[in-house]
Amino acid sequence: MSEQTAPAPTFPPGFLWGTATSAYQIEGSPLADGAGPSIWHRFAHTPGRTHNGDTGDVACDHYRRFKDDVALMQQLGLNAYRFSVSWSRILPAGKGAVNPRGVAFYDRLVDALLERGIQPTVTLYHWDLPQALDDAGGWLNPEIASWFADYAQVAFRALGDRVPLWATLNEPWVVADGGYLHGALAPGHRSLVEAPRVSHNLLRAHGMAVQAYRAEGKHQIGLVVNLEPKHPASSSTQDLAATRRADAYMNRQYLEPVLSGAYPAELAEMFGEAWPAVPDADLRLIRQPIDFLGVNYYTRGVTRHDDTALPARAATARQPQSVYTDTGWEVYAPGLAETLIWVRDRGGAGDLPLYVTENGAAFPDPAQSTNGAMEDPLRVDYYRGHLRGALDAIRRGVNLRGYFAWSLLDNYEWSHGYSKRFGIVHVDFETQRRTPKASARFYADVVRTHGAALFDGEALSAPGAARA
Ligand code: FCB
Repeated sequence: MSEQTAPAPTFPPGFLWGTATSAYQIEGSPLADGAGPSIWHRFAHTPGRTHNGDTGDVACDHYRRFKDDVALMQQLGLNAYRFSVSWSRILPAGKGAVNPRGVAFYDRLVDALLERGIQPTVTLYHWDLPQALDDAGGWLNPEIASWFADYAQVAFRALGDRVPLWATLNEPWVVADGGYLHGALAPGHRSLVEAPRVSHNLLRAHGMAVQAYRAEGKHQIGLVVNLEPKHPASSSTQDLAATRRADAYMNRQYLEPVLSGAYPAELAEMFGEAWPAVPDADLRLIRQPIDFLGVNYYTRGVTRHDDTALPARAATARQPQSVYTDTGWEVYAPGLAETLIWVRDRGGAGDLPLYVTENGAAFPDPAQSTNGAMEDPLRVDYYRGHLRGALDAIRRGVNLRGYFAWSLLDNYEWSHGYSKRFGIVHVDFETQRRTPKASARFYADVVRTHGAALFDGEALSAPGAARA
């Protein structure tokens, strides 16, 4: 075996092992202690917007049970946790007066994590824009970049002494595509003209928050994007062109401005008159040096031409041979290493530290076995495949520093309400009882053995086994 492909025995020392969550999906008590409503509060309370009319009013009741949840993380042997701060808990009107009781919640959470040896990793924006700011135009109002930077500064000052890793935005593509183009997510707009303007303001907000961090912070700040390798469904010219557009729209729309200072040329072409003028000064603002990139990876997109699917005129083709999750996503484990390597070699990241900031799968939970154990073999397989992929990427020289499973708990899956379960820990939403599933036990074994448990039961020399 050549030097380059020699298997790394295990994940490197100092690797972060965590789970990821977001505020609206788990906290509950959205208006407690002086918090203001967010767009998700309004959206979920609007009839017809979410499955079953489900809201995040209670969710996992994490706002009141966070200590138990942190204890659970420690029991699983995790050394990191990625959560998001709710903007409208800290600034109920989105700007102006700070709500000390909102800040105090995150203070207590951070302290509880540190007491148990778990590194906090904070995402500033995971989709729950203060409703008051949406009333003022939300992500369509260019002023939002400075509103976001001001909020970020409050968070940096309150928590920055104890939080070494910050992410500005979670998945700007989903904010724009789900929230402003297709309307399945808050605030539920459907507009081809709005979507690229929102994307641009998200990136400007990211840039200003990074600048604010440089003035305040001593550690690291980055961006979290969702990436999906786009593979052509056939070798036809049409499918190949659709694949390039889909890739530009979902993957390169955010990475190229942040890492290289320009939007992919395909975007102006595919949005046509809906594409906004982009001043050079904005591109300079967006291209702030970042300290790491967070990659959320769930699936790939086998892509075919579809004139009706705007803006990329591309649709995802179902693969009959593949396993699909409960959210209709193809399970495609090789895509994780492929994505990380693509980001490094062609996405512009180079040697920038990378984290897998989300990876996981929704499957319906099989019945509890008689001894009370929760068996979720499909999810175990998902994690085994993808964690091997993470190790494979490291073996191929990717500067991967940590991995966060989505998610710690079954939670509020946005417009799907409570119908999609992503947790490695089962939540009984009637009683709030938490029960680790087999996937939690498996993940804990992988963490404890620094990855060796991924190959249990296999001959060490078996092809594909990344263990010496
Ligand atoms: C990601 C989101 C996260 C969760 C997972 C399943 O796109 O960041 O909040 O919904 O998908």
